[in-house]
Amino acid sequence: MNIRLDGKVALVTGGSTGIGQAIARALSASGASVGVNYVANRALAYATVKGICDEDGRAIAIEADISDPVAVSGMFAQLEQAFGAPDILINCAGIDGKAASSWEADPAAWRKVIEVNLFGTFYCSQQALQRMVERKSGVILNITSVHEVIAWSGYSAYTSSKAAVSMLTKTMAQEAAPFGVRVLAVAPGAIQTDINKSVWTDPVQNADLLEKIPMGRLGQVQEIASLVTFLVSDAASYITATSVLADGGMTDYPDFAHGG
Ligand code: BGC
Repeated sequence: MNIRLDGKVALVTGGSTGIGQAIARALSASGASVGVNYVANRALAYATVKGICDEDGRAIAIEADISDPVAVSGMFAQLEQAFGAPDILINCAGIDGKAASSWEADPAAWRKVIEVNLFGTFYCSQQALQRMVERKSGVILNITSVHEVIAWSGYSAYTSSKAAVSMLTKTMAQEAAPFGVRVLAVAPGAIQTDINKSVWTDPVQNADLLEKIPMGRLGQVQEIASLVTFLVSDAASYITATSVLADGGMTDYPDFAHGG
Protein backbone atom coordinates (compact mmCIF):
# COMPACT_ATOMS: atom_id res chain seq x y z
CA MET A 1 0.00 0.00 0.00
CA ASN A 2 1.44 3.31 -1.04
CA ILE A 3 0.28 5.95 1.42
CA ARG A 4 0.22 9.46 0.03
CA LEU A 5 -0.59 12.71 1.82
CA ASP A 6 0.02 15.04 -1.11
CA GLY A 7 -1.51 18.49 -0.67
CA LYS A 8 -2.12 17.94 3.05
CA VAL A 9 -0.93 20.37 5.72
CA ALA A 10 0.33 18.81 8.95
CA LEU A 11 1.46 20.26 12.26
CA VAL A 12 3.62 18.14 14.56
CA THR A 13 4.13 19.41 18.11
CA GLY A 14 7.44 18.38 19.59
CA GLY A 15 8.58 17.81 16.02
CA SER A 16 12.25 18.56 16.51
CA THR A 17 13.26 15.43 18.42
CA GLY A 18 12.47 11.79 19.04
CA ILE A 19 9.14 10.37 17.94
CA GLY A 20 7.85 13.77 16.78
CA GLN A 21 10.83 14.31 14.51
CA ALA A 22 10.41 10.88 12.91
CA ILE A 23 6.70 11.61 12.36
CA ALA A 24 7.45 15.00 10.78
CA ARG A 25 9.89 13.34 8.38
CA ALA A 26 7.52 10.48 7.54
CA LEU A 27 4.54 12.77 6.84
CA SER A 28 6.74 14.89 4.61
CA ALA A 29 8.05 11.81 2.78
CA SER A 30 4.40 10.96 2.02
CA GLY A 31 3.84 14.41 0.52
CA ALA A 32 2.47 16.57 3.36
CA SER A 33 3.70 20.09 4.12
CA VAL A 34 4.80 20.08 7.74
CA GLY A 35 4.95 22.60 10.55
CA VAL A 36 7.66 21.46 12.98
CA ASN A 37 6.81 22.84 16.41
CA TYR A 38 9.50 23.20 19.03
CA VAL A 39 9.96 25.02 22.30
CA ALA A 40 13.46 24.37 23.58
CA ASN A 41 15.74 23.31 20.79
CA ARG A 42 15.79 25.77 17.93
CA ALA A 43 18.90 24.23 16.35
CA LEU A 44 17.33 20.75 16.20
CA ALA A 45 14.08 22.13 14.79
CA TYR A 46 15.91 23.93 12.00
CA ALA A 47 18.01 20.82 11.32
CA THR A 48 14.79 18.80 11.03
CA VAL A 49 13.33 21.34 8.59
CA LYS A 50 16.56 21.40 6.58
CA GLY A 51 16.57 17.60 6.39
CA ILE A 52 13.02 17.66 5.01
CA CYS A 53 13.73 20.45 2.51
CA ASP A 54 16.92 18.68 1.36
CA GLU A 55 14.67 15.79 0.33
CA ASP A 56 12.38 18.16 -1.62
CA GLY A 57 9.78 18.31 1.16
CA ARG A 58 8.09 21.43 2.51
CA ALA A 59 8.48 22.35 6.18
CA ILE A 60 8.80 25.29 8.53
CA ALA A 61 9.91 25.45 12.16
CA ILE A 62 7.42 27.10 14.53
CA GLU A 63 8.37 28.02 18.07
CA ALA A 64 5.58 27.80 20.65
CA ASP A 65 5.19 26.66 24.22
CA ILE A 66 2.05 24.53 23.84
CA SER A 67 1.11 25.10 27.48
CA ASP A 68 0.49 28.76 26.59
CA PRO A 69 -2.82 29.20 24.70
CA VAL A 70 -1.75 32.54 23.22
CA ALA A 71 1.43 30.99 21.81
CA VAL A 72 -0.64 28.09 20.42
CA SER A 73 -3.00 30.46 18.65
CA GLY A 74 0.04 32.25 17.15
CA MET A 75 1.47 28.92 16.00
CA PHE A 76 -1.69 28.08 14.05
CA ALA A 77 -1.69 31.56 12.47
CA GLN A 78 1.93 31.00 11.37
CA LEU A 79 1.13 27.56 9.95
CA GLU A 80 -1.86 28.92 8.05
CA GLN A 81 0.14 31.77 6.63
CA ALA A 82 2.83 29.41 5.36
CA PHE A 83 0.81 26.42 4.13
CA GLY A 84 -2.92 26.96 4.79
CA ALA A 85 -5.29 25.38 7.32
CA PRO A 86 -4.17 22.13 8.97
CA ASP A 87 -5.49 18.80 7.69
CA ILE A 88 -3.47 16.82 10.24
CA LEU A 89 -2.46 17.66 13.81
CA ILE A 90 -0.06 15.39 15.67
CA ASN A 91 0.07 16.19 19.38
CA CYS A 92 3.44 14.69 20.24
CA ALA A 93 5.11 17.24 22.53
CA GLY A 94 5.33 15.92 26.06
CA ILE A 95 7.41 15.69 29.20
CA ASP A 96 7.58 13.03 31.88
CA GLY A 97 8.89 15.19 34.76
CA LYS A 98 11.31 14.28 37.52
CA ALA A 99 10.57 10.95 39.21
CA ALA A 100 9.07 11.40 42.66
CA SER A 101 6.50 9.51 44.68
CA SER A 102 3.13 11.25 44.87
CA TRP A 103 3.73 12.30 48.46
CA GLU A 104 7.11 13.82 47.64
CA ALA A 105 6.33 15.43 44.29
CA ASP A 106 6.77 19.17 43.92
CA PRO A 107 3.28 20.53 43.11
CA ALA A 108 4.67 23.06 40.60
CA ALA A 109 6.57 20.33 38.71
CA TRP A 110 3.48 18.08 38.80
CA ARG A 111 1.38 20.90 37.39
CA LYS A 112 3.90 21.56 34.60
CA VAL A 113 3.59 17.98 33.30
CA ILE A 114 -0.21 18.29 33.20
CA GLU A 115 0.00 21.72 31.60
CA VAL A 116 2.22 20.51 28.75
CA ASN A 117 0.80 17.03 28.16
CA LEU A 118 -2.91 17.62 28.78
CA PHE A 119 -3.58 21.35 28.46
CA GLY A 120 -1.09 21.58 25.58
CA THR A 121 -2.90 18.81 23.72
CA PHE A 122 -6.23 20.50 24.44
CA TYR A 123 -5.12 23.98 23.30
CA CYS A 124 -3.65 22.64 20.04
CA SER A 125 -6.65 20.39 19.37
CA GLN A 126 -9.07 23.24 20.03
CA GLN A 127 -7.34 25.43 17.44
CA ALA A 128 -7.25 22.57 14.94
CA LEU A 129 -10.87 21.53 15.53
CA GLN A 130 -12.14 25.07 15.05
CA ARG A 131 -10.70 24.92 11.54
CA MET A 132 -11.38 21.23 10.78
CA VAL A 133 -15.02 21.22 11.90
CA GLU A 134 -15.70 24.25 9.71
CA ARG A 135 -14.02 22.58 6.73
CA LYS A 136 -15.63 19.20 7.57
CA SER A 137 -12.34 17.35 7.26
CA GLY A 138 -9.22 16.59 9.27
CA VAL A 139 -7.43 14.20 11.60
CA ILE A 140 -6.00 14.76 15.07
CA LEU A 141 -3.64 12.11 16.39
CA ASN A 142 -2.44 12.26 19.98
CA ILE A 143 0.70 10.46 21.07
CA THR A 144 -0.10 9.00 24.47
CA SER A 145 1.78 6.06 25.99
CA VAL A 146 1.28 2.59 27.39
CA HIS A 147 1.04 4.63 30.59
CA GLU A 148 -2.45 5.66 29.66
CA VAL A 149 -3.26 2.18 31.07
CA ILE A 150 -0.14 1.03 32.99
CA ALA A 151 0.55 2.65 36.37
CA TRP A 152 4.14 3.84 36.85
CA SER A 153 5.51 4.62 40.30
CA GLY A 154 7.23 7.99 40.44
CA TYR A 155 5.37 9.35 37.44
CA SER A 156 1.87 10.08 38.71
CA ALA A 157 1.59 13.33 36.76
CA TYR A 158 2.73 11.65 33.54
CA THR A 159 0.42 8.63 33.84
CA SER A 160 -2.50 10.86 34.83
CA SER A 161 -1.87 13.15 31.87
CA LYS A 162 -1.74 10.23 29.41
CA ALA A 163 -4.92 8.63 30.76
CA ALA A 164 -6.61 12.02 30.54
CA VAL A 165 -5.46 12.53 26.94
CA SER A 166 -6.90 9.11 26.10
CA MET A 167 -10.35 10.21 27.32
CA LEU A 168 -9.93 13.64 25.75
CA THR A 169 -9.26 11.82 22.48
CA LYS A 170 -12.45 9.79 22.72
CA THR A 171 -14.59 12.76 23.73
CA MET A 172 -13.25 15.02 20.98
CA ALA A 173 -13.72 12.15 18.51
CA GLN A 174 -17.37 11.81 19.52
CA GLU A 175 -17.92 15.55 19.13
CA ALA A 176 -16.12 15.84 15.81
CA ALA A 177 -17.22 12.66 14.01
CA PRO A 178 -20.43 14.19 12.60
CA PHE A 179 -18.22 16.83 10.99
CA GLY A 180 -16.00 14.35 9.17
CA VAL A 181 -13.09 14.82 11.59
CA ARG A 182 -11.26 11.84 13.13
CA VAL A 183 -9.50 12.02 16.51
CA LEU A 184 -7.41 9.09 17.68
CA ALA A 185 -4.26 8.20 19.59
CA VAL A 186 -1.15 6.08 19.29
CA ALA A 187 0.12 4.67 22.57
CA PRO A 188 3.81 3.79 22.25
CA GLY A 189 5.68 1.53 24.64
CA ALA A 190 9.40 1.94 25.27
CA ILE A 191 10.71 3.65 22.16
CA GLN A 192 14.44 4.37 22.09
CA THR A 193 14.66 8.16 22.39
CA ASP A 194 16.25 10.79 24.61
CA ILE A 195 13.34 10.64 27.08
CA ASN A 196 14.43 7.18 28.30
CA LYS A 197 18.14 7.37 27.41
CA SER A 198 19.21 7.10 31.05
CA VAL A 199 17.45 3.71 31.14
CA TRP A 200 18.65 2.10 27.89
CA THR A 201 22.23 3.27 28.37
CA ASP A 202 22.40 1.62 31.80
CA PRO A 203 22.87 -2.17 31.50
CA VAL A 204 20.96 -3.01 34.70
CA GLN A 205 18.01 -0.71 34.00
CA ASN A 206 17.97 -1.78 30.35
CA ALA A 207 17.77 -5.46 31.29
CA ASP A 208 14.90 -4.66 33.66
CA LEU A 209 13.08 -2.75 30.91
CA LEU A 210 13.53 -5.56 28.38
CA GLU A 211 11.88 -8.00 30.81
CA LYS A 212 8.77 -5.86 30.55
CA ILE A 213 8.63 -6.28 26.74
CA PRO A 214 7.65 -9.70 25.29
CA MET A 215 9.35 -8.81 21.99
CA GLY A 216 12.57 -8.33 23.94
CA ARG A 217 13.65 -5.05 22.40
CA LEU A 218 12.91 -1.35 22.48
CA GLY A 219 10.92 0.14 19.64
CA GLN A 220 12.39 2.53 17.10
CA VAL A 221 10.92 5.91 16.22
CA GLN A 222 10.29 4.80 12.60
CA GLU A 223 7.98 2.08 13.92
CA ILE A 224 5.75 4.76 15.41
CA ALA A 225 6.09 7.12 12.45
CA SER A 226 4.95 4.52 9.90
CA LEU A 227 1.89 3.65 12.02
CA VAL A 228 1.01 7.33 12.43
CA THR A 229 1.35 7.93 8.68
CA PHE A 230 -1.10 5.11 8.01
CA LEU A 231 -3.56 6.26 10.69
CA VAL A 232 -3.77 9.87 9.46
CA SER A 233 -4.19 8.76 5.85
CA ASP A 234 -7.42 7.86 4.08
CA ALA A 235 -6.32 4.21 4.30
CA ALA A 236 -7.50 4.44 7.95
CA SER A 237 -10.65 6.43 7.17
CA TYR A 238 -12.90 4.33 9.49
CA ILE A 239 -10.63 4.51 12.55
CA THR A 240 -11.47 7.10 15.20
CA ALA A 241 -11.93 7.44 18.98
CA THR A 242 -9.37 4.82 19.93
CA SER A 243 -5.78 4.39 21.05
CA VAL A 244 -3.66 2.07 18.95
CA LEU A 245 -0.95 0.43 21.07
CA ALA A 246 2.51 -0.02 19.57
CA ASP A 247 4.44 -1.51 22.47
CA GLY A 248 6.10 -4.81 21.56
CA GLY A 249 3.55 -6.47 23.83
CA MET A 250 4.28 -4.43 26.97
CA THR A 251 0.55 -4.38 27.79
CA ASP A 252 0.35 -8.18 27.37
CA TYR A 253 1.32 -8.82 31.04
CA PRO A 254 4.72 -10.42 30.21
CA ASP A 255 5.02 -11.81 33.75
CA PHE A 256 2.31 -14.27 32.78
CA ALA A 257 4.66 -15.96 30.31
CA HIS A 258 5.27 -18.19 33.35
CA GLY A 259 3.34 -19.05 36.47
CA GLY A 260 -0.08 -17.66 37.16
C1 BGC B 1 7.99 6.81 28.49
C2 BGC B 1 9.30 6.06 28.42
C3 BGC B 1 9.12 4.62 28.89
C4 BGC B 1 7.94 3.97 28.22
C5 BGC B 1 7.66 2.59 28.77
C6 BGC B 1 6.94 6.04 27.76
O1 BGC B 1 5.72 6.71 27.82
O2 BGC B 1 8.15 8.09 27.93
O3 BGC B 1 10.26 6.72 29.21
O4 BGC B 1 10.28 3.89 28.60
O5 BGC B 1 6.79 4.76 28.36
O6 BGC B 1 7.59 2.58 30.16
